[in-house]
Amino acid sequence: MTLKQEIERRRTFAVIAHPDAGKTTLTEKLLLFGGAIHVAGAVKSNKIRKSATSDFMEIERQRGISVSTSVMTFEYRDKKINILDTPGHEDFAEDTYRTLTAVDSVIIVIDGAKGVELQTRRLMEVCRMRNIPVIIFINKLDRESKDPFDLLDELEKELKISVIPLSWPVGAGSSFKGVYNRFERKLQLFRSVNKQKAAEDILEITDLESSEAKTALGESDSKKLRDDLEIIETVYPEFDKPEYDAGKLAPVFFGSAVNNFGVRELLNCFTEIAPYPQKSIADVREISPFEDKLTGFVFKIHANLDPNHRDRIAFLKICSGVFERNKPYFHVASEKQMRFSSPNAFLADKKSIVDKSFPGDIVGLHDTGNFKIGDTFSEGERLRFKGIPSFSPELFRYIENADPMKSKQLAKGIDQLMDEGVAQLFTLKTNGRKIIGCVGMLQFDVIQYRLEHEYGAKCRYDPVHLYKACWIESDDSLQLEDFMVRKYNNIASDKYGRNVFLADSAYSLQTAKDKFDKIKFHFTSEF
Ligand code: G4P
Repeated sequence: MTLKQEIERRRTFAVIAHPDAGKTTLTEKLLLFGGAIHVAGAVKSNKIRKSATSDFMEIERQRGISVSTSVMTFEYRDKKINILDTPGHEDFAEDTYRTLTAVDSVIIVIDGAKGVELQTRRLMEVCRMRNIPVIIFINKLDRESKDPFDLLDELEKELKISVIPLSWPVGAGSSFKGVYNRFERKLQLFRSVNKQKAAEDILEITDLESSEAKTALGESDSKKLRDDLEIIETVYPEFDKPEYDAGKLAPVFFGSAVNNFGVRELLNCFTEIAPYPQKSIADVREISPFEDKLTGFVFKIHANLDPNHRDRIAFLKICSGVFERNKPYFHVASEKQMRFSSPNAFLADKKSIVDKSFPGDIVGLHDTGNFKIGDTFSEGERLRFKGIPSFSPELFRYIENADPMKSKQLAKGIDQLMDEGVAQLFTLKTNGRKIIGCVGMLQFDVIQYRLEHEYGAKCRYDPVHLYKACWIESDDSLQLEDFMVRKYNNIASDKYGRNVFLADSAYSLQTAKDKFDKIKFHFTSEF
């Protein structure tokens, strides 16, 4: 196969959702229909969770909350599908945002009873910023749900994207009868199925006027479906692939992930329409995936995936060229050539060594603590990929050593956890005290737990009253210097040594902005 063919058959995407909408269930069912796993368990089954789902961190098992991102790969209809899993808990949203820098499209799962929720809105904002093509799956149709037309209106209004229903439900909850697939022009009746297996005992009817359809749905439901479809055809435009590719039009599917219902249709349509790897934007130029030379960036670092080997794995997204085992590549940050004798491909918690990877693929690189999120690899070119920002955290705590005998371990642990992007570290200029900034409270617990279990160090948190962290810059060096002197107690360095203003209130930030009008205050680290 040529490089072009390899690229064009790749589909790299993430499933994203507000917690509880069914992201984990849908991901598992996509794997099931894709043949990557043969038995899907009820989400709560620990046995299945440990062996076949995407989450495998010890802490996740204990808490039942997904805190890690992993990659799942399978072949389906000659396409190579790479699913990048994202944390299920909103406290780890930043991890999800970073994962979105490595995908070419997304599937958003919505709970049909709840509609668009807070995290759905936030995630969509990130997708919109990056023009990521979106497919929407409205889940849990086996429960009482909102009216499908109302849901479409809500999606358009709340997510600020045009929609086109490619499937349509008949009834919901106890009267849920099935879904008409507009993409394949088939009516599929909802039956109770064996949820564990991908076997399909779904009755397909292609002619809605047939007596078979009327018998299956009943006279009134079959008429309602025909009326609904007529409305859809007049109200919603034809599916427009360029609009979808531009992230402006989202195809919508209905189904019930836990019942395996609507999942195959979603997967079939997805493989058909979802884009193959597209160009990436680096600081010096745009990079086409079809270029011969390798480029790629690290979007995630994960420690101790395998508790038996205390290794770190950096997840490298290939943007162009071919990644080959044992070939030297240029690590731009350290200006060193590096070669990798055992790069990994992933399937849930299974890893295998790969000889060659292509754009769209994710490769796991063994790391002994040299890599940071955002690091670029190339064949010599000095470049940096854009769009892997840190956002200003919402919660801040001083982090202190609770075991003086283990200060080295603590320093190493904090350093490595920050490289992974678990949270952000700010070091105050005035006294060197360290402040951890997080998006959610759970991150503090995870840091404490991991410092103890992975590094043998103990930490304590002390309260610090802060409102926001702003990265500062100015063309007016005199004003910047003046600001730094006056606000010295609130100036810190981030992990990369950049200057950050830690504002203790909205008021103090506003007065700083008013007084120092030549200084730019940024809420994300990339500007
Ligand atoms: P998440 O990753 O988005 O947080 O959601 P997850 O898949 O864990 O699903 C959240 C809950 O919704 C689970 O129930 C799951 O079984 C249920 N669910 C997923 N898809 C459907 C569906 O199509 N219909 C219905 N009725 N429920 C669905 P749980 O109570 O947390 O666990 P369980 O006891 O059901 O296993």
